[in-house]
Amino acid sequence: MKILVVGSGGREHALCWAVARSPLCDKLYCAPGNAGIAAVAECVDISGNKIDAITDFATANAIDFVIVGPEEPLVLGLADKLRAAGIPTFGPSAAAAALEGSKGFMKDAVARFGVPTAAYGRFTDRDAARAFVARQGAPIVVKTDGLAAGKGVTICQNVDEAYAAIDEAMVGRRFGDAGAELVIEEFLDGEEASFFAICDGTNAVALAGAQDHKRAFDGDQGPNTGGMGTYSPAPVLTPAIEAEIMDKMILPTVRGMAAEGKPFVGVLFAGIMVVNGPDGQPVPKLLEYNVRFGDPECQVLMRRLKSDLVELLLAAAQGDVSGQQPQWHDEAALCVVMAADGYPGDYQKGTRIGNLAAAGQVPGVEIFHAGTKPGPDGAVLANGGRVLGVTAGAARIAEARELAYRAVDLIDWKEGFCRRDIAWRAMARGL
Ligand code: AMP
Ligand code: GLY
Repeated sequence: MKILVVGSGGREHALCWAVARSPLCDKLYCAPGNAGIAAVAECVDISGNKIDAITDFATANAIDFVIVGPEEPLVLGLADKLRAAGIPTFGPSAAAAALEGSKGFMKDAVARFGVPTAAYGRFTDRDAARAFVARQGAPIVVKTDGLAAGKGVTICQNVDEAYAAIDEAMVGRRFGDAGAELVIEEFLDGEEASFFAICDGTNAVALAGAQDHKRAFDGDQGPNTGGMGTYSPAPVLTPAIEAEIMDKMILPTVRGMAAEGKPFVGVLFAGIMVVNGPDGQPVPKLLEYNVRFGDPECQVLMRRLKSDLVELLLAAAQGDVSGQQPQWHDEAALCVVMAADGYPGDYQKGTRIGNLAAAGQVPGVEIFHAGTKPGPDGAVLANGGRVLGVTAGAARIAEARELAYRAVDLIDWKEGFCRRDIAWRAMARGL
């Protein structure tokens, strides 16, 4: 098959790395890709958001299967366009991608489907939003309805912070149209994790869980980022909790979306808060849905996955995952993100990254590129905020961590930084 992966980040490098290993893949393209992806796929210089240009390329090159990485092209309707052109596609329609694209849509939908989640209100009026905050008290969470590049969520410790967050979005228009409507919801206190399931429109099969580290600096300090490191499996997601997530969240959502004429085809990424239930037992609650693989969760999932990724995703695109049972290597995986100094604020592009080849030789290590471009004489240059995902697999999380940091220490990049405490919760549990 000729396969096209859409996207340019670490998630897409990991996807390409897994797709390239499949016996079903004869030729792999990635649009637009990056310097690391170029080692496993032919990069095509088209942005994923150019949905007409992507569809034209796929048609002109007789692509047999498209896998869409990021949420933006999905929200813009890329999967609809590709399917209308007769090209099997892994990724939801624009209507189903609203589960991520509109938090208000998501909250109303999961309320109808009976999914356990934080209590909430939806607001387009500033005074009504303020009145809700005054009634609920703090801590409370203010979220923009639309996509705001991961910056639209404010955890407010007191009501004044919440009033300020409301004004910033609705009066200051800091997030543009994305903040014209707000979701304000109950603060959930617990341990956060990510869970993934592959959906075929009417049914779903569990993939696996992972734990991300969203703050920029060690000890979960500093600003929120897209994710500074992950590991999988996530100990907080016990088999019982994962079964509960499938039964009470994923399956009701997939069935509900189908019943409402918006079948979800793709990977459903449930952001979970595991809270303490009334008698102290852990209970999963849904924080949010994303309609794509997590980044950098995808890197650890692909490192662990033993079965054929293409077979699995194609089964979903063709409408039947019932015969699929993902198999895993008997290993844990861990990913350390290396980011450009300054990220998630302003950062420099074009700095030179050295010694990647030697770092990639550390046993069990794969280096997934997130934001790189090729430079002169085979050099690799930084070209984004998150730049590399140094990923290792080993029998235990502690060993994978040791291998990943050994590789990180070999990389010669003075203008970059990483967290040194990825998987601290697992280390605290002696894993
Ligand atoms: P989201 O973009 O919805 O994932 O929110 C970003 C982050 O804010 C999440 O990863 C959580 O850490 C946090 N968050 C979102 N909603 C809540 C909530 N209701 N209670 C506590 N933390 C939350
Ligand atoms: N790493 C979190 C996300 O992809 O949204």
